[in-house]
Amino acid sequence: MIICANFKANKTRQETRAYMAVVESFVSANDISDTVIVFPPFTALDHDPRNVLIGVQNGYPVANGAFTGEIALEQLEEFGIKTILIGHSERRHIIGETQEQIAQKFQFFAEQGFVIVYCVGEPLEMREAGEDVMMTYIERQFEGIDLAYPDLIIAYEPVWAIGTGLTPSNQDIEALHHALRAKTSAPLLYGGSVKVENAGEIMALENVDGVLVGSAALSANDFCDMIAQAAELNTQKGE
Ligand code: 13P
Repeated sequence: MIICANFKANKTRQETRAYMAVVESFVSANDISDTVIVFPPFTALDHDPRNVLIGVQNGYPVANGAFTGEIALEQLEEFGIKTILIGHSERRHIIGETQEQIAQKFQFFAEQGFVIVYCVGEPLEMREAGEDVMMTYIERQFEGIDLAYPDLIIAYEPVWAIGTGLTPSNQDIEALHHALRAKTSAPLLYGGSVKVENAGEIMALENVDGVLVGSAALSANDFCDMIAQAAELNTQKGE
């Protein structure tokens, strides 16, 4: 199982330190063998990770250069960052990243050997337009993306489920993950309103290999609870 916390633009450096102390102690005290990744904001990347990976929420696909407001490879390398989130719906829909830019980013960070958590997901109107329209929409989010990249993790995050408290039915999650599984052998995460109350049941679904959690992961104790639920499932899922 892979359990990820995406802080988005939340938490200070000090708060992230306190959070990491709780999560790292929990992971070592409970002998957790699952992969745990935390994506803090840029300002809190200066952490020396023990048993939890630190990833970056975004990066500009160059070594360095004149790209005001961006963070590039050289700065990430200074912090030992080798994990990146690409294609998140907030970057697609709020910041306006195009599939072309996303694919460029993917290629650059893949060449650098990063673990890439690549996000896809449909807005509500696409889901409501029916299976074919929705799948075509998701298919386009794979343009320029190498689905055979060995350090790829895919996160399915329906846009309408992010930060809304809404989630697709378990059946719908399974159907989507089944379709993704036919395209790639990369681990498949689900994200969108995952919380302590539903994390276990979502992770138990077929072809769900973990979760990418936003707001509910801002509490270190709740995130640890979700990590414990994942660890419990390993025996049932034979991992
Ligand atoms: P929420 O868990 O707050 O819905 O956010 C999900 C998400 O976007 C994780 O990347």
